Amino acid sequence: MAIYITWLGHSAFRIESPEGKIFLIDPWIQGNPRCPESEKHQKKVDVLLCTHGHGDHVGDAVSICQELQPTVIGIYELASWLGSKGAKNIAPMNKGGTQEVAGVKVTMVHALHSSGIEAEDGSFIYAGEACGYVLEFSNGLKVYHAGDTTVFGDMKLIHELYRPDVAILPVGDNFTMGIREAEYACKLLRPRVVIPMHFGTFPVLRGNPQDLRSVARELNFDLWELTPGLRRKLTAKELVAK
Ligand code: NI
Ligand code: MN
Repeated sequence: MAIYITWLGHSAFRIESPEGKIFLIDPWIQGNPRCPESEKHQKKVDVLLCTHGHGDHVGDAVSICQELQPTVIGIYELASWLGSKGAKNIAPMNKGGTQEVAGVKVTMVHALHSSGIEAEDGSFIYAGEACGYVLEFSNGLKVYHAGDTTVFGDMKLIHELYRPDVAILPVGDNFTMGIREAEYACKLLRPRVVIPMHFGTFPVLRGNPQDLRSVARELNFDLWELTPGLRRKLTAKELVAK
């Protein structure tokens, strides 16, 4: 029983559950310069999750909802906004809550970041707060996608309560934490695999994930520097063996 993780560039990830359900997180696809051509048209999405309202995260959520009608998970205000744009199956929630969707336990956790949807006139629509997610799959594997965030002390609570095996963390700096804070996040979260995201998309996102290599050695986690579009398999056995 495995899960498969595919990075689509920036903060967009497709995760396939052991049951073959497709979870798509922060679906910024068309305008995403790091998303490969082969991934520009998503054919099947069972569950779509958004961490916050910024354009590089909500991305193509509206068109994907209209075309594929996935279950849509977001904080109440953001999920409701997507509902107003044609998403028929919204599953709104808020921080601290867990719901089971398509066989996966989804917990919404804290993130420290802003969240607004930019309207065409340049004003912002209130989209609730930014969040992260912990996904617990039926084979016991737990994946934390931090969304956009600074490091915060309650990442320790995420470790103590949910014990994520995999932590997907922003490292690009400027709009999120950079390397210095990401190193500290790894110390609080104690994951077995770290996947860096939200770097290099634009020159301002200058954090270099290779700079996490020394903390990876120190804390004995695997640093997965994924290539956008390449599907990577993860089994519970692989982590136990480590
Ligand atoms: Ni953001
Ligand atoms: Mn962002």
